[in-house]
Amino acid sequence: MVLGLWRAAGSVPGVSDDPVSLERLLETSADALLVAEADGRIVGTIIAAWDGWRANFYRLAVLPSARRRGIALQLVNEAERRLAAKGARRLSAIVMSEHDPAVALWLAAGYTHDTRVGRYVRTLP
Ligand SMILES: CC(C)(COP(=O)(O)OP(=O)(O)OC[C@H]1O[C@@H](n2cnc3c(N)ncnc32)[C@H](O)[C@@H]1OP(=O)(O)O)[C@@H](O)C(=O)NCCC(=O)NCCS
Repeated sequence: MVLGLWRAAGSVPGVSDDPVSLERLLETSADALLVAEADGRIVGTIIAAWDGWRANFYRLAVLPSARRRGIALQLVNEAERRLAAKGARRLSAIVMSEHDPAVALWLAAGYTHDTRVGRYVRTLP
């Protein structure tokens, strides 16, 4: 369901977009995945990860048919509320800089683009 939503929303495919990885997330951090419901179906998601040091957001996605109704902003706000209750203070999201709606959303949510840092990645075999 959630994997299908990410595909339908056009989320950039990731190496952990599979049922095993999703189950591992929920085993590791049962409350990290928030979903938004509207009209009896799941229309949006966010992963709010907290490792005891920093908080990171992943997989913010809203179905195209449910966009511009404030659902992403509500997901971010609720995730922030939960992270703050756990002690998180510094929150960040990885955002594709050419994806205008995503950039606009994070700016609207009060986040700033930290141009001092780049992302270094490696995928383990
Ligand atoms: C980005 C995304 C999550 C936004 O979801 P959404 O529910 O439509 O966003 P919201 O309705 O909460 O928007 C809140 C504010 O963000 C900004 N915003 C959101 N989408 C925008 C768009 N397409 N163009 C311009 N501004 C936009 C606006 O300021 C908006 O407020 P407004 O509607 O009052 O103008 C959604 O477009 C999506 O799922 N995109 C594909 C996946 C993706 O890029 N995810 C982000 C990964 S970092």
